[in-house]
Amino acid sequence: MKKVQLTETVLRDANQSLMATRLPYSDYEGILSDMDKAGYYSIECWGGATFDSCLRYLNEDPWERLRNLKKNLPNTRLQMLLRGQNLLGYKHYHDDVVEKFIELSIKNGIDVIRIFDALNDFRNIGTALDSTMKYATPKTIASGCISYTQSPVHTVDKYIEMCKELKKMGFGTICLKDMAGTMSPYEAEHLIKGIKDAIGDMTLILHTHCTTGMAYMTITKAIESGIDVIDTATSCFSGGTSQPATETMFYALRQYGIDTGLNEEIINKVNDYFKPIKQKYIDNGQLNPKSLATDAQALVYKVPGGMLSNMIANLTDMHAMDKFDAALKEIPEVRKDLGYPPLVTPLSQMVGNQAVTNVLIGERYKNISKEVKNYIKGEYGIAPAPVSKELVEKVLGSDKPVDCRDEDKKRTGEEFKAAKEALGDLCRCEEDVMSYICYPDQTLKFLKARKEQEENEAVYTIEEM
Ligand code: CO
Repeated sequence: MKKVQLTETVLRDANQSLMATRLPYSDYEGILSDMDKAGYYSIECWGGATFDSCLRYLNEDPWERLRNLKKNLPNTRLQMLLRGQNLLGYKHYHDDVVEKFIELSIKNGIDVIRIFDALNDFRNIGTALDSTMKYATPKTIASGCISYTQSPVHTVDKYIEMCKELKKMGFGTICLKDMAGTMSPYEAEHLIKGIKDAIGDMTLILHTHCTTGMAYMTITKAIESGIDVIDTATSCFSGGTSQPATETMFYALRQYGIDTGLNEEIINKVNDYFKPIKQKYIDNGQLNPKSLATDAQALVYKVPGGMLSNMIANLTDMHAMDKFDAALKEIPEVRKDLGYPPLVTPLSQMVGNQAVTNVLIGERYKNISKEVKNYIKGEYGIAPAPVSKELVEKVLGSDKPVDCRDEDKKRTGEEFKAAKEALGDLCRCEEDVMSYICYPDQTLKFLKARKEQEENEAVYTIEEM
C-alpha cells in the first residue's frame, strides 16, 4: 500500500501563521498525550518564531517548553524549523554558537531539525548540518530545506541541482518550503517528479500554505508525483495563511488507497480540543479572521501573507496607505534588482521595507537600508542571480564584496563569555546563555521576572512554615 505521512503543524506554523505565535504551552498541554498516539510523521512544535514569542510575549522559557513537549510526546518526533546560520534570529552567528544551539536543542528534546537558508546559499546551513550529525541520537533527522520561489533563475533544473547538493551534503530528508503558497499544481508535478528521479528513495517533504488557494490542488498533484510527507494543520487551525487540514487530507488519501498511518478517532479528538481555543483567540482579537481567507494577490506579487500584513501596518502607521498599490508593484522591481531572493525571513522584510522606502521618497534607492546594504555586500550569502550593477557600485564603491562565511568561522567564544557576564547571577544554565545570545533584551526581562517570582515564592514558603 502506498504511504504518505503527515506532519502536524498546529503547535508551530499554524499558530505562527494565524495568530502571530501567541499560543501558550498551557493551552495545549491537555491534548499532547493524545497527539502522541495520532501517528503523525512528526509534530512541528518549536523553532521559527516560537522562541522569540515565548520570551517576548508569553513569559515562557522556550527550553522548558521543549522539555515539557518531550515529556508529553515521548513517542512522536518533535520537529523544529531553523534558519541555518541565523538560528532563530535575523543575523549570522559564529559557528560555535550554532553548534551549541543545536547541541542544546537535541539535548532538550528535538528530533527533526529542518534547516533552511533564505537565499538557498547552502554554505549557510553546513554548520547546522554538521552539528546535528555530531550530537545526533538514533531518532535525529537533519532535514535540508529549500526556500521555494519563482523567478527567471529558479527553474526546475536549478531546484533539482539544489536537491542533489543537499543529498551530497548528508541531509537525511529534503523539504520544499513554499512559504508564500504560490507553488501551482503544474509546478509541483514537474518539480517533484524531477526531484524524485534525481534523489532516489530519499524522503521528500512538501511544506506549503493555503494563502493563495493553491495548496490542496498542489498537494494532490504532489502526492500523485511521489511526495512522501506533507505538512498539515488540525482543521480548525488550517486554511488561510496556515496549512491544509489534517483530517481532510486523511479522508481524501484514504479513498485513494493511500495509508497515512493516522488514527482517525484521535485526529478528530485533536481538532475538537482546539476548537474552543481558536474561538477564544477570535473573541479576544488575537486571531484575525482575515488570516483565514484566501488571497490570490500573492500569485501576482509573490509576496507571503505575513509580509503583506507587515506592509499594511507600516504604511498605516505612516498615514501612507494611499501608496500601498505602488509599494506592492515596487516589490518585484526591488526583488529583481537584488537578484531574485526568495521572500522569506529576513529577506521578505528587507525587500518589503526597501520597496516602501522607494515609493515614499519617490526615487529608487535614494535611501538604502543598512540590511539591504549588508546584503549587497554579501553578508547574507550569494544572491540567486547577480545584483543590479548600479546598486553594487552605489553600495560597494571600490570595496570588495565580503564572504559571509569568513566571520562565521571565527570560533572565538566571545558571545558566550559576554552573555554569561551580562546575565550574572540570573544565569543558571547554558540554555539561559543561549536565549540571551539570541534575544538579549527579552531574555534579560524574562530572567529578572523569574528571579523575582521565585524570591516572592520563597518568602511565602517561609511564612507558611
Ligand atoms: Co511555513
